[in-house]
Amino acid sequence: MSSAPVKLKIYAEMLEKELERLMPKEECLQSEIFEACRYSLLEGGKRLRPFFCMTFFELCGGKAEDALSFAAGIEMIQSYSLIHDDLPCMDDSDYRRGKLSNHKVYGYSTAVLAGDALLNRAFEVFTSPMEGIKPLDQLAAANVMGTASGVYGMVGGQVIDLALENRQCTAEELEKMVSLKTGALIAGSCKSGCCLAGASLEKAEAAYNFGMAVGLAFQIRDDMLDLVGSSEQVGKPMGSDAENNKNTYASVYGLEKCEQLVKELTDKALESASVFGEEGKAVLSEIALWLINRTY
Ligand code: IPE
Ligand code: IPE
Ligand code: MG
Ligand code: MG
Ligand code: MG
Repeated sequence: MSSAPVKLKIYAEMLEKELERLMPKEECLQSEIFEACRYSLLEGGKRLRPFFCMTFFELCGGKAEDALSFAAGIEMIQSYSLIHDDLPCMDDSDYRRGKLSNHKVYGYSTAVLAGDALLNRAFEVFTSPMEGIKPLDQLAAANVMGTASGVYGMVGGQVIDLALENRQCTAEELEKMVSLKTGALIAGSCKSGCCLAGASLEKAEAAYNFGMAVGLAFQIRDDMLDLVGSSEQVGKPMGSDAENNKNTYASVYGLEKCEQLVKELTDKALESASVFGEEGKAVLSEIALWLINRTY
């Protein structure tokens, strides 16, 4: 198993500093909400979605640093989605990113509010003036992220995920659920990077299609790890999908078929990204291949 791409690590370090700046420690009457947000936002996590936003921004001619605060907003949405996903009314998971879940430390009400706060802060960040970005391009990118995270995206997928618990689902239902709950946010992150750079519709759509295929493969790998991964490495409890009677690619298709599917999806993703030339191919194939073989 190869280690994570160097560029992913470099961008993750840049991002962490930006998140620290955007969600500082505050001594005030509502200190607890800052603490709860920081608890889930600042440590651990692969920082994959911000990486995609910054990488596509660069591939469309931008300077990665200029997309950094937008990318930080994306990670706020990711962190919020995980805090809510772990709540007892959803997946009831006690561990996340190698430590206790937000609600286990701060209680249910603060965990719900921390998720709300991160989501709102994300859109505050998306719509704050950004150097090097044209306001209309920024607006387009923020709009993409709104769609990717709401009823037509991640939230919609989470609703389907819960509705499909305890019953057998069809192949179409499974694909729809995963496309929305995971594919949409990754695809939106890729597309938003193109929008920020004012790229052509052709490039923005190609980035979206790349992200959607990578996102599906990513969730399939997550489902596989829930069966065969190590909780120390993954940083969350394993076997929880079966415990919650979830429909996953691993439970519906089995591990062997999943191995084949992630490869096919990765090929499809890289085909979609061909408009980004040789430079795009190098960086995107490195990350896509690492993702389907990852152990965390
Ligand atoms: C977890 O996403 C939720 C899924 C879509 C499987 P990640 O695996 O990207 O979680 P972090 O951000 O690295 O913790
Ligand atoms: C994706 O699915 C969760 C979100 C879209 C937030 P999972 O429920 O499988 O994610 P993990 O395994 O808890 O990270
Ligand atoms: Mg879930
Ligand atoms: Mg979960
Ligand atoms: Mg999972």
